[in-house]
Amino acid sequence: MTEHQASEHVHEVLPPILELQSITKRFDNVLALHDVSMQINHGEVHCLLGDNGAGKSTLIKIFSGVHQQTSGNMCLEGASISFANPREARDRGIATVHQGTGVLPLMSVARNFFVGSEPTRGKGVLRRMDMAEARRVSLEQIQALGIRRVEDADQLVGTLSGGERQALAISRALYFGARVLILDEPTAALGVREAQTVLKLIRRVRHRGVAVVLVTHNAYHALAVGDRFTILIHGEAADSFVQGERTREEVLNLMAGGEELEDLQLELEEIDAEFTPSA
Ligand SMILES: Nc1ncnc2c1ncn2[C@@H]1O[C@H](COP(=O)(O)OP(=O)(O)O)[C@@H](O)[C@H]1O
Ligand SMILES: [Mg+2]
Repeated sequence: MTEHQASEHVHEVLPPILELQSITKRFDNVLALHDVSMQINHGEVHCLLGDNGAGKSTLIKIFSGVHQQTSGNMCLEGASISFANPREARDRGIATVHQGTGVLPLMSVARNFFVGSEPTRGKGVLRRMDMAEARRVSLEQIQALGIRRVEDADQLVGTLSGGERQALAISRALYFGARVLILDEPTAALGVREAQTVLKLIRRVRHRGVAVVLVTHNAYHALAVGDRFTILIHGEAADSFVQGERTREEVLNLMAGGEELEDLQLELEEIDAEFTPSA
């Protein structure tokens, strides 16, 4: 076997960490997802792109145990699995970080990092939260994601920037065992610089071997950090490709829905005609 064949062989035997096979999700009359298949691989950033209402949130809610599919199959490391609730997904290492949620602005960095699972010292009635340990670990973990401006674990989270808050939520998820990190529109409400902070965070997370699902409708952000891409249109996987296979223009066109843009062009011309003084 040549070296090339050997490495291909390794890739073949390592299943995707998470896989959807022909997933359909119906809410009463609404067909939110139809026959969607996708693979999330170890150490890859998989971007899920699509317009509002395309089904992106529904899809990640199936990954994270919020919803169950109407039909189709989900696999975790090659074995069929279903999550009855978000806790079951979290226990298997699937963490979702929602934009701006999950952090408490009036609490410190250290307290936010450990909220609900505080490190303690002492026994029985003497048991106390170990604040020194909480401060040390939270700063260490946030700084490990390249966020050096957070230097005081007692700082209130409300005073952090948007990117720094994401860093807090992401480093916390990783510390508590996330192997798949799902980010739902992490850059949507951020300014240019803050969005760049988040994209750099994503790159660092990927280098740790964690799989990232990046939900976004920003093709620029997706192409900057993505390895693999799935475009959802009206609940269907309209295209999937790897980095380098599509130009930015092609991606933007796909997302806008080429036909709809042509229709728009015609309608705009009709409006122009209304305002053109007739001869
Ligand atoms: N809980 C729900 N009940 C009924 N319809 C829903 C529910 N969640 C989403 N939908 C519908 O499913 C479709 C996809 O929505 P969603 O997944 O939120 O899209 P996206 O996140 O891409 O904007 C939309 O038509 C939406 O109205
Ligand atoms: Mg959504």
